[in-house]
Amino acid sequence: MGAREDLHARFDAITAGQLRDRGLEKWGTHPDDTLGAFVAEMDFGIAPPIRARLLDAVENARTGYISRPLLRELNAATAAFLQRRHGWQVEASHVHAMPDVMKALETMLRFHLPAGAPVIVPTPCYMPFIHFLAELGHAPVQVPVRHDGTRYALDYAGIDAAFDAGAGALLLCNPHNPIGRVYSREELLRLSEIVEKHDARVFSDEIHAPLIYAGNTHVPYAAVSPAAAAHAITAVSASKAWNLPGLKCAQIVFSNDDDLRIFKRIEHHLTQSSTSTLGIFATLAAYDQGEPWLADVVDYLQGNRDFLAAFLRERLPQIRFDAPQGTYLAWLDCAALNLPQPLGAWLREHARVALTDGAFCGDGFGHCVRLNFATPRPILAQLLERIAAAFETR
Ligand SMILES: Cc1ncc(COP(=O)(O)O)c(C=O)c1O
Repeated sequence: MGAREDLHARFDAITAGQLRDRGLEKWGTHPDDTLGAFVAEMDFGIAPPIRARLLDAVENARTGYISRPLLRELNAATAAFLQRRHGWQVEASHVHAMPDVMKALETMLRFHLPAGAPVIVPTPCYMPFIHFLAELGHAPVQVPVRHDGTRYALDYAGIDAAFDAGAGALLLCNPHNPIGRVYSREELLRLSEIVEKHDARVFSDEIHAPLIYAGNTHVPYAAVSPAAAAHAITAVSASKAWNLPGLKCAQIVFSNDDDLRIFKRIEHHLTQSSTSTLGIFATLAAYDQGEPWLADVVDYLQGNRDFLAAFLRERLPQIRFDAPQGTYLAWLDCAALNLPQPLGAWLREHARVALTDGAFCGDGFGHCVRLNFATPRPILAQLLERIAAAFETR
């Protein structure tokens, strides 16, 4: 058995009991007979180089405050990774540590946008976006994506109209959680022209960018044109692809000097006091040494995605499902099944599977659910059987 097959066999062998014993959100929130497939984390553990780096940090008491050289190392490693993986050339000095992507978004909202400027959110979206914007005083303007019969796409006319009506920024998620779209250069360019026309801003959340399936390429939004670079602020992180969300380390990437100048005034508070030292060590190991493990994981995830697609085609053809181009999240539009809403709650009760309710992803999505397929394939098979049985016996 080759190394990849060996790793995949070890993923297959992880049991629901072991996952529950971790005592974390995905497997610890619902009753014991419920299978966890909601919050966006993977069940596969962490890459060996990351484990080694964390053990080294603990054994050598590297758990104090972050030093400036360590921050510089993180910024340089991030810039090198973005160049190598996505062909995006950024200065290391334009990259800065953040505890997480939501903090990077908060930074953009507080310091780089006019107070109270409404923000466009293409929906369905990552669940907390809508409330988070509202809580920070930026009215969220939901613009649903459109399905053209083959795939979801941004509603450019709707976005244009929302800017016309006074929105100051757009919150882009690329790859798009939860619909799994990896936007093409042409799509992003078209968006950037609309944003530029309105002299507006984009926050580009690229947290899922390392998780791309064969035949697709992640294009960083800020890299599509000088105009996009001038109006974008980007957030990246190793947390989704290497499963490190509890370690609190993401990166904000500035692609214009004005934004960088503003950030320099507040940098100390935002990075020194909130990013985690262990998170930086883990991220360094991920970016510098973690790509071989990631390639094996993406291959396994692609197998899960294809398994899911085949299951839905055969057993639940009424569900509209586009195989994701990236991310390990699947968006299931169950409108044709005419089921009670919110559908996620119904499935928790009747299938004992915990999915994310589409209603949390934007207005009008109560007939949809988001399924996290980053789980051992035997568990994926089991939870799909449970869902199909619940639908069939209703
Ligand atoms: C698109 C997207 N953005 C942001 C986050 C949250 O990231 P963080 O924990 O770094 O704030 C997630 C988590 O699932 C996500 O999927």
